[in-house]
Amino acid sequence: MLRPLVLYPDPVLAKVSEPVHHIDNSVRELALDMLDTLKTVGGIGIAAPQIGIFRRIVIIDKSLEDLTDDVEKPQDFVFVVNPVITVIDKVKHIENEGCLSVPELRAKVARPRRVAMEGLDLDGKPVRYEGDGYFGACLQHEVDHLDGKLFLDHLSYLKRSMYEKKMKKK
Ligand code: NI
Repeated sequence: MLRPLVLYPDPVLAKVSEPVHHIDNSVRELALDMLDTLKTVGGIGIAAPQIGIFRRIVIIDKSLEDLTDDVEKPQDFVFVVNPVITVIDKVKHIENEGCLSVPELRAKVARPRRVAMEGLDLDGKPVRYEGDGYFGACLQHEVDHLDGKLFLDHLSYLKRSMYEKKMKKK
């Protein structure tokens, strides 16, 4: 079921999401709603709070894990419940980011270069994804959502206020 996206500056996007204690059918249904919404609006990842559900669930596009061969692969969405990020290489790396909840903005964000995401799939089995570059940024971006952070929070005050001004004019 398609659910409406929560958009900035809705203050609920700053809420910290709760861990999932039991992966039951209600959690799976919610995850499928996230997937429907992501596929409908078109994107490479989504976190539960972006559809107004404050649980620690994200969807990432695993096809971005290896972009070295330059071949465009079909999107391969995977669910991660209670994802935890481990930094593997903390050297800062810059990617151009955007977000379904922050319309009409793409901006450069510096984050640790290589990370791993560990959590559970919808069967409760452990999963682990690791990557750098764009994929690494995506992993960190989605977990940020669960902690009430947007990529906007990584930008300078100036860049952020320019964006806010632009959106107010609409
Ligand atoms: Ni986002």
